[in-house]
Amino acid sequence: MAIAIFPGSFDPVTNGHLDIIRRAAALFDELVVAVLDNPNKKGRFPPEARVDMLRRVTTAWPNVRAERFSGLLVKYAQRCGARVIVRGLRAANDFEYEFQMAQLNRGMSEAVETLFMMTAPQYAYVSSSGVREIAALGGDITPLVPGALLREIREACEEIPAAN
Ligand code: PNS
Repeated sequence: MAIAIFPGSFDPVTNGHLDIIRRAAALFDELVVAVLDNPNKKGRFPPEARVDMLRRVTTAWPNVRAERFSGLLVKYAQRCGARVIVRGLRAANDFEYEFQMAQLNRGMSEAVETLFMMTAPQYAYVSSSGVREIAALGGDITPLVPGALLREIREACEEIPAAN
């Protein structure tokens, strides 16, 4: 059974993430979407809300499950029985960070392989931080996030007072 893990902050999940989830779920028997719970880095959405949103938008894929994790990714991957870490690559500026992370993870465990998937061109510039900023400033995030989450993402982000 081939199990893969797709880790990230997912603060919040975007259509770009969802595209990677859909494509990765077609390649593996099981895909664990792992939401980092980092007590030192408070996000806009609490980790349990991120997991809940992911669960609601991935119901179409029975082999996908969303979970929270803390600590080292490679250790969590091993606990899940995953031998593959899936990461999406957007534009070239993602590369350096991803390369470094993959090498650090490899240094800790050669048993876990990092596999990169190229983001579909229409999502190349979609990011959670972009979504948060556009929503906070009253812009339209309809093309960027799953329709089922549109309202709650907008409302949560609009609570941020806009800077002058
Ligand atoms: O969506 P993000 O914020 O780019 O995801 C980053 C993530 C969660 C994959 C990364 O921060 C991570 O794996 N954190 C867990 C701690 C860890 O294992 N660090 C060592 C690798 S740099």
